[in-house]
Amino acid sequence: MSHPAGSRRQTSLTGIKPTGELISPEDGGTVHLGNYLGAIRPALELAQNYDSLYFIADYHALTTQRDPEALRQNTRDVAAAWLACGLDPERTLIFRQSHVSEVFELMWVFACVVATGQLERGHAYKDAQQRDGSPNAGIFNYPVLMAADIVLYDADVVPVGADQIQHLELARDIATRVNHLFGDGTVVVPRAVAANAPTVPGTDGRKMSKNYGNAIPLFCPAKQLRKAIMKIQADSTPLEAPKEPEGALVYDLFKLVASEAEQRSMAERLRAGGFGWGHAKQELYETLEHQIAPMRERYLELRRDDTEIDRILEAGAERARAIARRTITRVRTAVGID
Ligand code: TRP
Repeated sequence: MSHPAGSRRQTSLTGIKPTGELISPEDGGTVHLGNYLGAIRPALELAQNYDSLYFIADYHALTTQRDPEALRQNTRDVAAAWLACGLDPERTLIFRQSHVSEVFELMWVFACVVATGQLERGHAYKDAQQRDGSPNAGIFNYPVLMAADIVLYDADVVPVGADQIQHLELARDIATRVNHLFGDGTVVVPRAVAANAPTVPGTDGRKMSKNYGNAIPLFCPAKQLRKAIMKIQADSTPLEAPKEPEGALVYDLFKLVASEAEQRSMAERLRAGGFGWGHAKQELYETLEHQIAPMRERYLELRRDDTEIDRILEAGAERARAIARRTITRVRTAVGID
């Protein structure tokens, strides 16, 4: 599929849903270590090779979020976290989905070409239907809005985890169909790339998630961070006994944050005996704290006053809107609404 604008650098895009209850910035905010190691850090690495757009999918969050203040604050919280983790807003666009209303025009065009049967087969929709019989129409249309999110910005690649593959396939189907109906080159057909993202275990060994109560907050005060790390499950092998690092939760987490030399050193000491899980946790804590401390400082600075974050998000939206308008003009002309 050739690109309407000719050859250019590839564009990658992702949406981040600002869900969950409100947690104050002083208590670490809504982002946890699993979000950082499993999503933010890999996405920032990917951003090096692409023109990247990252947006906060606030309208997607509205399918389940009923607390306006939580939505408002979580949106800023997520943006602040990405910036604090190293996103450079000059190079990578960061904005709120809701700030580019063109997405709803495109969504409507897409709604007019997608079959309801295809939406009825959506995993997320079917799950919601099982849970509450008649889920809201936002949940039904969720993948259509997501397809519009992607296509609006001419995205070539979307890094996805397993849970989003079906959504991406639908976006591809819709874009292909639009080109078939209204002319080749009307829109860019996106493709999924496997998000090179580790699954980060929580303190109980299951995937780290706020829903499981096993999450380690990313930006909580150092003391709280240490406490959360000390809760990581470990077996009761006595201090003196040799221990196998591979497969142990503390070591699994350590591997995600430590250098290879640090990993080797810890593994050797565990295997030698005389080095307990408590020591390993302390070292995990120190390594993490060393990395997080400067990010936490930046995060708290951004969260103290909304002016800067709002300015960055608006500047990003302005640049995103310029891309969106070009796409919408192309699509309107192609369908006969111009
Ligand atoms: N559905 C995604 C999630 O739940 C969020 C999202 C919304 C998204 N729009 C997107 C992801 C566009 C990638 C591309 O995580």
